[in-house]
Amino acid sequence: MSSQLSPIDTAKFIAAKQATEYVESGMKVGLGTGSTAAWLVQCLGEMVRDDGLKIQGVPTSEHTAKLARDVGIEVVSLDEAKWLDLTIDGTDEFDDELTLIKGGGGAHLREKIVATASDRMIIIADATKKVDTLGAFPLPVEVARFGLPITEGLIEETLIGMDVLGRDIKQRMAGDEPFITDEGNFILDLHLKRIGDPRQLSLILNQIPGVIENGLFIDICDVVIVGHGDGKVTVRDFTNDTSEVVRFDVRDDDNIFTSVAD
Ligand code: A5P
Repeated sequence: MSSQLSPIDTAKFIAAKQATEYVESGMKVGLGTGSTAAWLVQCLGEMVRDDGLKIQGVPTSEHTAKLARDVGIEVVSLDEAKWLDLTIDGTDEFDDELTLIKGGGGAHLREKIVATASDRMIIIADATKKVDTLGAFPLPVEVARFGLPITEGLIEETLIGMDVLGRDIKQRMAGDEPFITDEGNFILDLHLKRIGDPRQLSLILNQIPGVIENGLFIDICDVVIVGHGDGKVTVRDFTNDTSEVVRFDVRDDDNIFTSVAD
């Protein structure tokens, strides 16, 4: 690992590295999707190879499944695993209540199913993901391909009564083609700017026929680990209401990225 990483990649990497402290041999671990979760998968792969860590990983996307296999993690399906000890994933936004917006990578449906099937969910993030109020990041909503205009229209109508600042809806594209999720569905990104009541919005969106799942994660996440470009990591555990600061030494020498006592 080189300290030539950008501050943002350093932040993601050290958050991921710190999260590996929660992983023990014998565990079944949900593996998130996205650039921060990719660091985690790399770190776990290294532990499997070098330290004899034995885990079963349940990936939240085809992309993560490939990465996990590539780095030597045993991959099993959620059906095979049945229940997980923990899931570690990234996020697009999180607030003080540990409510999240996820799905920037289009994987929030599988991510929510996997996280909900876990004893514990840990979020790893760089500090830019922390917000006072959710909604600057467009809210991804996975929808059925069938009847897309109807579903979009119903979402538009629903938003009129919601405590949000913007109401633009854009279908996610992959170049000139609609983006298709691993489950074969479309994504609508809701540009809400500010979400006043995430719980109400989530419940109402999910009542619309055609909506499969929205990207709000409420009462699912237990621990948030935030990395900073200077090597500082904060760990906030909601299950026992504790906060901890860990420092990683990011100097350009052989000892980079070893955690040191604060
Ligand atoms: C994938 O669908 C998302 O939920 C990601 O976990 C989220 O977008 C965070 O991604 P980054 O770690 O790349 O910011």
